[in-house]
Amino acid sequence: MEVKQAKITAVGHYLPEFRMTNFELEKLMDTNDEWIRTRTGISERRILKDPDKATAFMGAEAAKEALESSGTSAEEIDLIVLATVTPDYLFPATACLVQNMIGATNAFAFDVSAACSGFLYALSTGSMYIEAGRAKKVLVIGADKMSSILDYTDRTTSILFGDGAGAVILEESTDGTGIIDQIHHSEGDTNCSLYQHAGGSRNPATIETVKNRQHHVTQDGRAVFKKATMGMADVSLEIMEKNNLEPEDIAWLVPHQANLRIIDATANRMGLSSEKVMINIDKYGNTTAGTIPLCLYDWKDKLNHGDNLILAAFGGGFTWGAIYLKWGLK
Ligand code: COA
Repeated sequence: MEVKQAKITAVGHYLPEFRMTNFELEKLMDTNDEWIRTRTGISERRILKDPDKATAFMGAEAAKEALESSGTSAEEIDLIVLATVTPDYLFPATACLVQNMIGATNAFAFDVSAACSGFLYALSTGSMYIEAGRAKKVLVIGADKMSSILDYTDRTTSILFGDGAGAVILEESTDGTGIIDQIHHSEGDTNCSLYQHAGGSRNPATIETVKNRQHHVTQDGRAVFKKATMGMADVSLEIMEKNNLEPEDIAWLVPHQANLRIIDATANRMGLSSEKVMINIDKYGNTTAGTIPLCLYDWKDKLNHGDNLILAAFGGGFTWGAIYLKWGLK
């Protein structure tokens, strides 16, 4: 079988208008702007306030922008892969809701659940369909309405996250640009370091689960911090070594935005100076599956055709990975 190469041919995004600053959080809990900025790098995050809108809405808006920017009609899309941990419903898949919202009538659609590594896993999955010649145009979306699962009485976790979505279109590449390599890892976390305990088949919703606030994200911040710092840096070095890349060969690191200190540690281990690192955690916080496509969107005008990018992420599961791609948009 001839293996094709997949490349990103369009990028779109959606961010809710409402900006929740650290000062707003000070009114809700015992925290302060200085602590949040110095420990995480976050100044504000976006929150989707409209109770009638959720992850599918944000994903659809991001997808529409990607379609419009490349002059692609929704009917041309063969597949939608959507990464999220905050689906509108446990089922049907949020990807199917997006399909309906944008009118992608010829696509099949499914979700990927890999927490903060979700977009990378979804991008890998989508690229395989292009590489195998099974799809011509694939929409890959990372979208999360984290505010729907945050406990605003828990200062250790709620300050970290925000809402947002990003989308890319993948198509066959004929010019040598596109996704060159990908490495993914998982390690089943039985210590419940980063979990949403209730709402699934293990602990279906009851009055007790609601009273005990088990439908929110809980985490052991320190344990996750250690694992994430190690995992993201290790896999980034692994993909550099595998592809004989020196720091000077890399134009940009596109890291998952969980904590500025994790990003800095990864860039340091890779030998990259801060000018080569995409950072927007200050404005959006951790949007889970949204962070990497939101970075690509924010930086798209600064990227040159052929630039070497390393995308790297770590998330709940645990899941982590890196993708090496040559930027294919002109
Ligand atoms: N405001 C003020 N103080 C806070 C606070 C907040 N929002 N949250 C925690 N603190 C306090 C703690 O209670 C603790 O106080 P103590 O020393 O009196 O016990 C102190 O600050 C230090 O807490 P610690 O948990 O050690 O801080 P930290 O430097 O590890 O930072 C995180 C906490 C959550 C920011 C950090 O661990 C982290 O980013 N972890 C990774 C989380 C993550 O990225 N998850 C997403 C998946 S990738």
